[in-house]
Amino acid sequence: MTLTRTFIAVELNDDVRGALQRRIARLQRRLPDVRLADPASLHLTLVFLGELEDDQLSAVIDTALNAARASRPFSLSLGELGTFGSRRAPRVIWTGVTGEIAPLLALQQRLAAGLEALGFPREERPFSPHLTLARLKQPLAPDIAGQLDALQQAPIPHGERATFTVDEIAVMKSELARTGARYTQLRACPLGSRPR
Ligand code: 2AM
Repeated sequence: MTLTRTFIAVELNDDVRGALQRRIARLQRRLPDVRLADPASLHLTLVFLGELEDDQLSAVIDTALNAARASRPFSLSLGELGTFGSRRAPRVIWTGVTGEIAPLLALQQRLAAGLEALGFPREERPFSPHLTLARLKQPLAPDIAGQLDALQQAPIPHGERATFTVDEIAVMKSELARTGARYTQLRACPLGSRPR
């Protein structure tokens, strides 16, 4: 029996990845000891499902296709920097998204409701859309925590901004390896009115 570690996400185009690459490069200069994400692997996760058997995966794909079909394309922009966790010991450094958040939340709710009907319980925490730039295992040294504060307060340079249309979501596979997770698209699910 094969198990597939599965999640549903919005994938990013090259323009957005370019802006993220510049943002990550600026962060890396100020946070030299933090391992930052490879922009090629970034995506906006809508729902994480974990390990699925083949029949569960087919049902999840059908649900994602239906939720996507019932939605309409919308526009998002890269937002500010944020963290989850405390100031000294953040667990995640992320970039938020701004723009047409209401259709994004509606799409995520539609997915969560469809998956709940299949027997996947909803996340207890409310959905907080973000792109994970770093996952941290250790508390930050005080000077590095100060650097991170400064980064969060500084204006985002023009070259690190990007606006993009979300016209599909993707059912994704995650393969864990020592060098980091590898993500591949299993199925693209176009949003409602996208011309085909
Ligand atoms: P993250 O970026 O906030 O870590 C693939 O693992 C994707 O699913 C990641 O983008 C990750 O979000 C997200 N995800 C959500 N919940 C997860 C969980 N419990 N375990 C692993 N990944 C999870």
